[in-house]
Amino acid sequence: MRKPIIAGNWKMNMTPSECAKLIGELRPLVGHAACDVVVCPPFTGLAAAKAALAGSTIRLGAQNVHWAEKGAYTGEVSAAMLKELGVEFAIVGHSERRQYFGETDEGVNKRARAALAADITPIVCVGESLDQREAGETEARVGAQAKAAFKDMSAQEAVRVVVAYEPVWAIGTGRTATSEQAEETIAFIRAIVRELYGEAVAQAIRIQYGGSMNPKNAAELMAMPDIDGGLIGGASLKAADFLQVVHYSAEGTK
Ligand code: 13P
Repeated sequence: MRKPIIAGNWKMNMTPSECAKLIGELRPLVGHAACDVVVCPPFTGLAAAKAALAGSTIRLGAQNVHWAEKGAYTGEVSAAMLKELGVEFAIVGHSERRQYFGETDEGVNKRARAALAADITPIVCVGESLDQREAGETEARVGAQAKAAFKDMSAQEAVRVVVAYEPVWAIGTGRTATSEQAEETIAFIRAIVRELYGEAVAQAIRIQYGGSMNPKNAAELMAMPDIDGGLIGGASLKAADFLQVVHYSAEGTK
């Protein structure tokens, strides 16, 4: 059984006080959802978010994590630093990190493994660009990203990972992948996991869809057999919209 997981990626939005305010709006609405609900504020909002979440079932995630324990890595944040703030999840390899900040498949793997070592669940993002999709390279690109992300990871570690399939052309564009397109690629990612780790891990690992997921399309996406949740950008910044996505997902235990 895979418990759906809905995560809000707030990206570079929300000051600490705004984080606390949004959580204050979400808390009573989300209540005891049947799926895992995670919010990922920017680093500067994590402490305020944690305080605002006290006693809530909503869990806290970060938007990145560095692979080193500590040292001369200006601007980076370690897993131990996040852990002490109460962070349980960390997005790694988001396409915006890959595109604008030069993150590589190798670095994404190192970040994911550092998170696991600190008992933080990595949400590993993979996804093709529009050019790659149109050139028929979706599976080649997504497959390579997924295999690289799992490099040197044991089955016990891999099963704890959450994968987020986010086609780059669907992020922030209002252009969602159709539920069939999302299902096809997510089933393909599950097949890669099966190839690497066998059937039990493939059946247990959770794979989200991300890219313009919103209250209008969430139910249809969540009804697909391999889609175990969503990584929500824009729609996670409005309590009412995020709540609706959570509501659809709670019905989607696979
Ligand atoms: P949007 O939901 O705004 O398209 O963003 C998706 C995303 O990148 C989540 O990580």
